[in-house]
Parts: sequence; structure tokens; C-alpha cells
Amino acid sequence: MSEHIFLGVAWPYANGPLHLGHVAGCYLPADIFARYHRMAGDKVLMVSGTDEHGTPITISAAKEGVAPAQIADRYHQLIAQEFEGLHIQWELFTSTRTEQHKETVQKIFLELYDKGYIYLQTQEQLYCPQEETFLPDRYVEGRCPICGAEKARGDQCDACGRTFDAKELVDPHCKLCGAQPVVKETEHFFFKWSAFNDRIAQWLKERQNFRPNVLNFTNNYLREGLRDSAITRDMEWGIPVPLPGYEHKRIYVWWEAVIGYLSASISWAKEEGDPELWRQWWQNPQAKSYYFIGKDNIPFHAIRWPAVLMGLGDLNLPYDIPANEFLNLEGRKLSTSNNWAVWVGQYLKDYDPDPLRYVLTITAPETADSDFSWAEFLRRNNDELVGWWGNLVNRTVSFVHKHFQGQVPAGLRQEVDEELLNLGRATFEKVGQLIANCQFKQALAEAMELAREGNRYFDAQAPWKSVKVDKERTGVVMATMLQLIAYLRVMLHPFLPDTSSKLHTILNLADAPQEVRWSLPTLEAGHPLNAPVPLFKKLDPSIVEIERAKLG
Ligand code: MF3
Ligand code: ZN
Repeated sequence: MSEHIFLGVAWPYANGPLHLGHVAGCYLPADIFARYHRMAGDKVLMVSGTDEHGTPITISAAKEGVAPAQIADRYHQLIAQEFEGLHIQWELFTSTRTEQHKETVQKIFLELYDKGYIYLQTQEQLYCPQEETFLPDRYVEGRCPICGAEKARGDQCDACGRTFDAKELVDPHCKLCGAQPVVKETEHFFFKWSAFNDRIAQWLKERQNFRPNVLNFTNNYLREGLRDSAITRDMEWGIPVPLPGYEHKRIYVWWEAVIGYLSASISWAKEEGDPELWRQWWQNPQAKSYYFIGKDNIPFHAIRWPAVLMGLGDLNLPYDIPANEFLNLEGRKLSTSNNWAVWVGQYLKDYDPDPLRYVLTITAPETADSDFSWAEFLRRNNDELVGWWGNLVNRTVSFVHKHFQGQVPAGLRQEVDEELLNLGRATFEKVGQLIANCQFKQALAEAMELAREGNRYFDAQAPWKSVKVDKERTGVVMATMLQLIAYLRVMLHPFLPDTSSKLHTILNLADAPQEVRWSLPTLEAGHPLNAPVPLFKKLDPSIVEIERAKLG
């Protein structure tokens, strides 16, 4: 039965290009999941867009001396291209600067204001006497009031992931000029998070399918109780408060960005020519919504956004939030400011997308932080992709061209052949279940293990010997190998779409590469194959030093 599956994927800030941390954190797992469900015939709606408001953008713009809109437009373009280069597919990839988004955010703001969940209050806020301006969160730095780490930002500490009020920072200073800010009064709209404390706690108790890291984080977070906080800011860049007299205030970027999941769905429905279509994913109780994010985004997706949804009352809550831990690089924490990062654009200039998709999935930070290193990238590309999977295809197809006129040979299978194909079918079921459970790393490992098993079978059957004495039996072995390859192509399609297209050509299949179904095909005897092309390129060991020299 076909399901409605919504995927909301964290919106990247439009203030810089993508790096591997982004890809491993949420975009690649989301793409694998979405591809699998589309193949299975489910109705998938996967959206995201660039997060273009707030201080991340204004700070970057100020550094470069350009307008925030210019920064946002530039990186929106670039990021969208980088997704294309990695074969990450969206129903819609939009931005938070569309009319639709602004309209949706303002409507929700007013609805929650009318319901009493948003209220006006005078607030004390940090003010820089030197710059004569109230300081938005990211314009203040200091020590984390919770863990004591240095360089905590006014809204969140990167060391412990907690969020707090900028006034709580220890030894705060203004990021613009270094001066010590003073506390001054201003009026702001507050969101009544406190009203949702119990409901969120109850809801999380029922969400036992969440990953343990997500449940742990949220339980700790809730232990302190949710306090109301300001969801407006004194700044120029952002979505205006839709109330007379307050048009100069802007809605806090985090509060509006998450609403992008809904506004993007509405935009998509309109583009599809059926403006009400989004409701099938948002108001249908059978629909499931998945939010793919990195762990630093957990509070906003597992607590704040669900609270807003509860306030609205008629929209689906998250079904699962498979948040990933962090990806380190060469044994060190990623850092964009120190250029300790591998940039997607740079990677794509020199390498194909599938090896990166492979390595980032097989080492994915699903339950603990993981590490990307170029030596490991090289090894996995050469030993596993080239050695196991590429080699399996290459030697089989070459052999069939050499000895069987490039056609699937006929003949009766023996037990050992049936065993291999039974294993193929069992693996197919397992891989599907693992992907549906968001266990991508294990799913891919199972499929690759099947490829290794295929190689072992090939070696044990030794067709290069048997072809001299028993051509018919050799033909059956080759037909079995080809059948296994056709199975593997389907299983690996969500992970390695580019390779799957190559196999589509080699195996001369009828399905279009974009329309591969999640079901096992049968290769009939006599079916003609095309010539083999290498699925992967063997990489030279020198790339390790070349790439490492680019870091830092
Ligand atoms: N831009 C945020 C980040 O990179 C993620 C925002 S997700 C959204 O951490 F849903 F709020 F948009
Ligand atoms: Zn901290």
C-alpha cells in the first residue's frame, strides 16, 4: 500500500557553500530515504531551502561589505547546484525569502497571537553602548552559562548544544566592537513555550521509535522546563511582525525558518497545480513526517517546532527525527573558519559523486561522531567500490561478452546457484527494512556484503577454468552472476544513483534509470547486454597528501 512520506531536511544557511559535514549530517541520508520510498511507490514530498534571514546572513554580509540579499542569493544558487552535483533530489528546494513563506509565517504568527500563545512583553536585552544598538544573539559572545565553554554565542553553545538567553552569558562582549554590552529594556513578542512543556514531554514519551541520542537530548532539555522566550528581534533583515506599530521588528530566524517546512509544501502544491495537495502530507493522519537534521538542530525540531504545531493544532507532528551526530575530519572537529573542511564544490571538480555518497554512508555518524579521512576514502574507493562491486560487474560482463556473445546464458540452476540468489532476495528484504528504519549505514553494509559473496561464488565456481570443459554449466554460473548484479543494482540505487545509471546501460534494462522500482527484476535467457564500462575509477594514493594539504 502506498504511503505519504514527508521529509523536511534542515535548511542550510545561505552564507557559505556546503561541506561534507552538511552532506553526512542530513542531506545524504534524506536523499537515500526519499529515493527508496519513491522506488517503493510511496508518495514522497521532500522539501528544504536556504535559511536566508537572521544574523548568520547579516554577519557574513557585513564581513564582505555587501547587502544581505546579495549573500543570500549567491549562496542559494551555489548550494542548489551542489545538491544537483551530488544527485540529491528534491520535490522542492526553495528559500525563506519567498512571498509564500512570508505570508505563511505571518499568518501563523497572528493565529498563535490570537490564541494567546504569543504575547508582548518588555524584555531586558543586551545593548552595545558603543554601537548604540540592541545586540541580536549572534552579535554577542561569552562563556557558556551551562558548561563554561569559551566563545558561546548569544543563543547557543556549540560545545554543549544548549540554548539560553544572551543575558546569561558570562563575560559577554559585542562581536562588532568588543565592548561590554549593557542590559537595557525593549519590547518583544514572546512565545509561550511554557504552555507546551507537559504536552511535549508526553508526546516524546510516545515516540519510542526516536533514536536514543535524540530521546536523551530532549529528555535532558525538558528536565529544566521550557521557559518563554522572545521570538522577535530589533533588526532590519527578516520577516516583519504583522501587527501595526511593530512593523520594524523582525521575527526571530529560528522561529520562522522551521515554518519553511510548511510554506515550502504549500509552494510545491501550487507549482503542481493543486494548491490543496500539501494537506495530504500535513493533515492526513496516515502520513508520516521525517525530519533529517544534525544533532545541533535537535531542540528546534524535536521541541520548538512540535510546540508550534501543537499550538496550531491541525498539522501532523514529526513521526521520526533521525538526527545524526557530527562528522569529524582527519581526526579533528570540522571548522569552516579554519578551513578544516572538505567543500562539496571542490570535491566535485576532481571526483564522482557516488564514491563520496558511499564513504559518507558507510561511515555515517548515525549513533556516534564519525571521521572522514582521505586515506579511508581512498581505501574504500579502491578496495570496496572498485574491488568488490566494480570488479564483480566488470569480470562478469566481460566474460559473458567473451564466451557467450554478450547474452544472458540459458540453463538449469543448481543448489549453489539458488542459494546465492536466495541470499540476494533475503538481503533485498533486509536492506529495504533497514532503510525504512533510517539505518542507512547497516543497509549499505548488507548490500556490499552480498557483492562480496558474489565474488566468493565467482572464485569458487572458477568459470575461467570450467568454460574449457563444461560450457553449459559455466553459462548457468554467469547467468546467476548477472541475476545477482541486477538485484544489487536495485538495492544500491538509493545510495549510488550514478552507478545505477551506468548499470542500466550495461545490463540494457527496460526501466528508465529514474524509474527504478523497489522490486527484484528477472533477467531472461538470451537478453543482450551492452559492453561493460568501469563503474568506478581507481584512485592514485597520491590524492591523500594532495587533499590533506588543502586543509587548514
Ligand atoms: N540553518 C540552520 C542550520 O544550519 C537549520 C535551520 S532548519 C530550519 O543549523 F528548519 F529551521 F530551517
Ligand atoms: Zn555550553
